[in-house]
Amino acid sequence: MKRGIVLKDDWPGYSLDLFTYPEHYHEDIESVYIPHGVIMNRVERLAHYIMDDFGEHNNIMVLCVLKGGYKFCADLVEFIEVLGRNSNKYLETRVEFIRLKSYLNDQSTEELHIIGSGDLSFLRGKSVLIVEAIVDTGKTMKALLKHVETFEPKMVKVAGLLVKRVPNMTESLTDYVGFEIPNHFVVGYALDYNEYFRDLNHICVITQELGR
Ligand code: HPA
Ligand code: MG
Repeated sequence: MKRGIVLKDDWPGYSLDLFTYPEHYHEDIESVYIPHGVIMNRVERLAHYIMDDFGEHNNIMVLCVLKGGYKFCADLVEFIEVLGRNSNKYLETRVEFIRLKSYLNDQSTEELHIIGSGDLSFLRGKSVLIVEAIVDTGKTMKALLKHVETFEPKMVKVAGLLVKRVPNMTESLTDYVGFEIPNHFVVGYALDYNEYFRDLNHICVITQELGR
């Protein structure tokens, strides 16, 4: 369950003409890699896993990693809230946002910079769910987790919609994985390429010329 839905290296995606998508991206995308409906069902399933694990805690502090995580976070939290409304459990959710930038100082050191709320003291004693759209090497997540731990939350879990199979993958830090995907650059569902494609509903692979 931890790897999520595994998309094989040779998964070509669906032909574009089988789906609807914004016309302005007609030339720029190659295939529909994960259709929006599949994303939504998977996110709903993740909400169930999260409810099972957080059930006792009844107070979830969601930390959304911007910008890429905004759609995943909004949909995930909505599903969690629907589950809360339909159960007799007391459940409160609160959402906070952070933006990260990893700067490469020299060849070897990659430093994590938190833009926006660097002071996360509101996490103290809370059950925290970090929500991130895509995890690749895991370096950024590792640094973020370390930073979050300094504020002494009661517990911390990580939800990642996509986890990339990359060389030298560190141990998985993602507790709830939507999909494990090959090491391709993907866009859509708030994931961007130079700020484009966030308004695409499916997760797609962009055409070769753009990706180069
Ligand atoms: N797409 C968009 N943003 C990203 C990706 C990707 O595949 N990997 C890391 N950031
Ligand atoms: Mg980006």
